[in-house]
Amino acid sequence: MRLLSLALVLAATASAAMVKTDSTCVVTPLSNTPARSIGTVAPADRDVDPEAEPDLWADLGPFADPPPGALGALGYYPRPEPSRGSRPLPPPVEIGVQGNRNHHVPKDGALEARQTNTDDTPQMLDAFKQCGKDGTIIFKEGTYNIRQVMNTTDLRNCSIEIHGTFVWSADNIQYWLSKSFSVTYAGRSTAWLFGGRDVSMRGFGKALFNGNGQVWIDQNRNNANQNGRPISLTVWRGTNIFIDGITWRQAQFWHTFVAHSQNVTMTNLDMNTTSNSQWKAVNTDGTDTWNSKDVVIANWTVKCSDDCISVKGNSTNIYVNNVTCYSSGGMCVGSMGSNTGQPDYVDNVVFENVRLFDSSNAAWVKTYPGTGHVKNITFRNIHFDNVNQPIYVTSCIYSYPNCDSSRLGITDVRWENITGTSRYNVAVGIHCSSQAPCDKLQFSGIDIKPLKGGTSKILCSNIRNQASSGLQCTGPCPGSHPQQLSGNV
Ligand SMILES: *[C@@H]1O[C@H](CO)[C@@H](O)[C@H](O)[C@H]1NC(C)=O
Ligand SMILES: *[C@@H]1O[C@H](CO)[C@@H](O)[C@H](O)[C@H]1NC(C)=O
Ligand SMILES: *[C@@H]1O[C@H](CO)[C@@H](O)[C@H](O)[C@H]1NC(C)=O
Ligand SMILES: *[C@@H]1O[C@H](CO)[C@@H](O)[C@H](O)[C@H]1NC(C)=O
Ligand SMILES: *[C@@H]1O[C@H](CO)[C@@H](O)[C@H](O)[C@H]1NC(C)=O
Ligand SMILES: *[C@@H]1O[C@H](CO)[C@@H](O)[C@H](O)[C@H]1NC(C)=O
Ligand SMILES: *[C@@H]1O[C@H](CO)[C@@H](O)[C@H](O)[C@H]1NC(C)=O
Ligand SMILES: *[C@@H]1O[C@H](CO)[C@@H](O)[C@H](O)[C@H]1NC(C)=O
Ligand SMILES: *[C@@H]1O[C@H](CO)[C@@H](O)[C@H](O)[C@H]1NC(C)=O
Repeated sequence: MRLLSLALVLAATASAAMVKTDSTCVVTPLSNTPARSIGTVAPADRDVDPEAEPDLWADLGPFADPPPGALGALGYYPRPEPSRGSRPLPPPVEIGVQGNRNHHVPKDGALEARQTNTDDTPQMLDAFKQCGKDGTIIFKEGTYNIRQVMNTTDLRNCSIEIHGTFVWSADNIQYWLSKSFSVTYAGRSTAWLFGGRDVSMRGFGKALFNGNGQVWIDQNRNNANQNGRPISLTVWRGTNIFIDGITWRQAQFWHTFVAHSQNVTMTNLDMNTTSNSQWKAVNTDGTDTWNSKDVVIANWTVKCSDDCISVKGNSTNIYVNNVTCYSSGGMCVGSMGSNTGQPDYVDNVVFENVRLFDSSNAAWVKTYPGTGHVKNITFRNIHFDNVNQPIYVTSCIYSYPNCDSSRLGITDVRWENITGTSRYNVAVGIHCSSQAPCDKLQFSGIDIKPLKGGTSKILCSNIRNQASSGLQCTGPCPGSHPQQLSGNV
C-alpha cells in the first residue's frame, strides 16, 4: 500500500496538472497550475475532478508566482526537451507558503517566460496514455504549450474534449525539423500523429490550434515543401474518427492530413493561415487525403495558400460538403501518380456546395504522368469569385514534356452547376493524355464569366466523349498549358 502511494505520488509529480478519476483524465495547462508541489497534497485530496470542484483550484490562486527566492513549481520549468536529459527536481514546497491568493494575472516577464517555456506535452501524452483506451480526456480552458512531437495512434474508444488553446512552439525550429514524424507521402512529416479506433476529438468551437505559422513562413522564405516542416495534425491509421469544432490559426504547414485511415468525419473546422510579412504562406493546405476510405468533410472555412481540400492517391469514398475557401487552390484531386512504378487510384468523390474566393483553381484534377486512375468524381454546386483557371485537368502537372505518356486514366468525372468569375478569359483548361484520353466527362450548368468582361475560352484536348460531354470546346489545350495563367490567352 505504501509503495502504491509512493508510485501514485511519483506519477502525479511527473504530470502535476493532469488528474485522473475513473476513466477520465482532466488536463489543466501547466501555466495555469497552482505553483505548488503535488507531492505535499494528501492522495485523498488529489483524486478530485477540478471540473466538479472548481473551488479547490480557485483557492490555490492559479497564477500565483512564488515569492522571490522560493522554489515553487516554477522550478520545474522549462521542461527539457527529450534530447537534453532531465534536470533534478527541486525540493517540494508546502502549499500556502508561497501562494498569494490573488487571482490577478500578472503581465510581467516572469509569467510570460513561464508560459512560453512551459512544456505541456508530457502531461498531455500522459493523459492519452492513461485515458486513451475506454476513456475521456478533457483539456480544460487555457493555453497548452506543445514543445514536442506527439504520437497518439493507439487510442481506442476514446473521447477527447478540448476547451483550450494548443500552441506549438516555434523557438525550437531545429527540433521540429529533425523530430517531426514522417508520414511517408512525398517526404512530408507531422507534429502530431493521431489515430486508433472509435475516437472523437471535439473542440466545441472553443478549441484553438495555433501553429506559430508566421515563424515557419518567415524562415521558409517562399520555398516549396520544406522537409521537416510539420503538418499540424495527421489522422494516421485511424478507424472511426470524428473531429469537430476546432479552429486553426497560423498552422505550421498543411493544417490536416488523413492517411491510412477509414471512416473519418471532420466537421465544423475553421482554418486561417495568413502571412503578415513579405513571405508567402506556401503549402498550408486545408487538408489532404491519401490511402484512405470513407472520409466526410463538412462545414469548413479555410483561408490558406495551397489546396483547400485535396484528394490524393488511393482515396475512396470522399464526401466534401459546404466548404468556403479563401485564396486557396480549391477542390482538387491530386496531385498523384508521381511514381510510375506505383499506381494511384482515386474513386467515388463528391465535392458539393463550395464557395471559393481568389483561388488559383476551383474544381480540378492534377496527375503526374503515372499509372492508376481517377474515376467517379462529382464537382457540384460550386460558386466562386476571381479564380485564375476554374476548371482545370492535367495529366502532367509540373512535367509538361511527358504529358501524353501518362497511362493514368481520368474517367467518369462530372462538373454540375459550376458558376462564378474567372480572373482571365479561360474558364476551362483540359489536357488529357493522348495515351489514356479522358472518358465519360460530363458538364452541365457551367456559367463562368471573365471578371473583366468578354467571353470565356474553353480549351480541351483528348477527351474521348467530347461530343457528348456537354462542353462546347473553343480550342485545343496544349500539354504545356499551365495551372495558373498570368493574363488572357
Ligand atoms: C468505451 O469507454 C467507456 C468509458 O469511457 C465505457 O463506459 C464503454 O463501455 C466503452 N465502450 C466499449 C464498447 O468498450
Ligand atoms: C507511434 O506509436 C505507435 C503505438 O505506440 C507505435 O507503434 C509507432 O511505432 C509510433 N510511431 C512513431 C513514428 O514513433
Ligand atoms: C464511423 O465513424 C462514426 C464516428 O464518426 C461512427 O459513429 C460510425 O459508427 C462509424 N461507422 C462504422 C460503419 O463503423
Ligand atoms: C484570416 O486572417 C487574416 C489575418 O488575421 C484576416 O485578415 C482575414 O480576414 C482572415 N480571413 C478569414 C476568412 O477569416
Ligand atoms: C453544419 O452547420 C450547420 C449550422 O451550424 C449545422 O446545423 C449542421 O448540423 C452542420 N453540419 C454538420 C455535418 O456538422
Ligand atoms: C456551412 O458551414 C458554415 C461554417 O463554415 C456554417 O456556418 C453554415 O451554417 C453551414 N451551412 C449549412 C447549410 O450547413
Ligand atoms: C495504392 O494502392 C495500390 C493498390 O493497392 C498499391 O499498389 C500502391 O502502392 C498504393 N500507392 C501508394 C502510394 O501507397
Ligand atoms: C460513384 O460515387 C458515388 C458517391 O461516392 C457513389 O454513390 C456511387 O455508388 C459511385 N458509383 C459507382 C459506380 O461506384
Ligand atoms: C447551384 O449552386 C448554387 C450554389 O452555388 C445553389 O444555390 C443553387 O441552388 C444550385 N442550383 C441547382 C439547380 O442546384
